Formats: sequence, C-alpha cells, structure tokens
Amino acid sequence: MQPKIIIHGGFFSESADTEEIRIAKRNALTNIVTEAHEYLQENSALKTVIYAVSLLEDCELFNAGLGSQIQSDGKIRMSAAIMDGFSKKFSGVVNIEEIKNPVFVAEKLMNYEDSVLSGAEAQSFARQHGFQYFNPETESRRRSYIDKLAESSRIGTVGCVALDSEGKLAVATSTGGKGFEVPGRVSDSATVAGNFGNDFAAISCTGVGEDIVSAALAAKIVTRVTDGLSLKDACDRSMNELKPYNGFAGVIGISADGDVYHTDSHPFMVWASYAGTLEVFS
Ligand code: GLY
Repeated sequence: MQPKIIIHGGFFSESADTEEIRIAKRNALTNIVTEAHEYLQENSALKTVIYAVSLLEDCELFNAGLGSQIQSDGKIRMSAAIMDGFSKKFSGVVNIEEIKNPVFVAEKLMNYEDSVLSGAEAQSFARQHGFQYFNPETESRRRSYIDKLAESSRIGTVGCVALDSEGKLAVATSTGGKGFEVPGRVSDSATVAGNFGNDFAAISCTGVGEDIVSAALAAKIVTRVTDGLSLKDACDRSMNELKPYNGFAGVIGISADGDVYHTDSHPFMVWASYAGTLEVFS
C-alpha cells in the first residue's frame, strides 16, 4: 500500500488574514506535509498523525497549541483528539490549559481506559506525566482578543489523516476553539463529530464546532463509507446536509482504498496532501 497523508490548518479568513499570511500558511503546510510524509514511510499512520499535528500545533500561524485563540475570559483552552482506525481507540483532551502540545497528552491517554479528560483534571494528568507549564499565547492572538475581532473566529483547528503501508488509517485533530467563546464551551475536535476513523475511512474536521456536532460530521462520513459510499460521495452528501442551517465546516479524509479528499462549505479551508505527489491549496 502506498502511504498517503492529508493535513489541514483550518480556514483562511478573508477579513482577518492578509495575503502575506496566506503565503506563510501555504509554505508551512507544504513543509509540514512533506516532513510528515517522509515520517510515514517508516512509521505507522497513528504515529504519523500525532507527529504531523504536533508540528501544526508548534506553528503559530494556526489555531492549535502555540497561537491558540483566546476565550472570552482571556484564557486559552485547547482540545485535541486522536483516533486509531485499526484499534478503534479514541483518546482526547477537552479544554486543557498551559500545555505545549495537547495532541501528546491525547497520545498518552491512548494507554488508559478513561481516555478522554477535560479541564483541570486533564491538566493535572498531563503534569503527572511530565508535561511542563507552557504559555501558548502569542502577541497576535492577544491583539485580536483585545480588539474583540469576532471575525477572527472560524479560522481554527488543525488536523491530519494518514494511511500507512499496512493499509491502516489514523486521524488526529487539535484546536484552540473558535475564539472569544464562553468558558466551558466544548469544541467538536475532541469528539467523534470532529475526529473519527475506522478500517474504512478517517476524517478530520475544521469549522464551527456547533455546526459540526449538529451534523455528527466525521462519524457520519465514515459510517457512509463503511456502508459502501465512495469517500467523495460520503463527504459531499454530508456537507450538503449542512446547507439548511448554513453550517460552516471543512473536512479532510482518506479511505482504505486510498482515495484522498477534502471539501469545505465556505471559502476556504487551507490544506496540503501527499498522495504520490505534493498538492497544496492555492
Ligand atoms: N472546530 C473548532 C471549534 O469549533 O472549536
């Protein structure tokens, strides 16, 4: 099986992002997908999605890890999840604070029966396992917060789906939320609506968490592929179902037979893939 990978870095915001940022995001996604694709040659899909999402979290251009959006009380709370399509294990953290890489805490939780933790308890679990204090705030996010730039919401979340040489699929997704939200609000990213996979397909979502949860988006697409629809048809049909409520979402996915697909409800999600050749949003 030829290893394949696709990543996303959320949405490009016409109102909040400049042309310079568009180019920077394009370059960052190109570098990260190339590096993660190389990693995938020697590593499993599961290890690769964690690695790729950690690189995305470390890049302050994206709304996950370093550079996460600030919530309405001035704090950053992050969520991340991993799903191994082979073992069907899902793990995640919801609204964790002061951690560099939420996806690595989700990775640690893969070994535990109670595999999704939230808030302060997620943070104490992380500290017990050696994750040091880290402040993910950047100057630019603080400026947006101070200006109450509501339009800078909806641009967030990063994700990766990979298919390895053994034909196994995995997916990881990480987010700083939608920005300026009420404390305690739960993102889709660490739920099966935003991050889901099995032996047939794996999907990572970005966009407005409430819209994605209302559609059970990732789980629905994967179920449709499992029941026989092609990846493209499953994604397109599920995205159509967002239209009656103007749902705002983007998805990336790979199916077990090697189809790689991405689509979005609004202009436009930023993404990059390596499936034989390198492709990047333009
Ligand atoms: N999709 C990220 C969020 O709404 O929190």
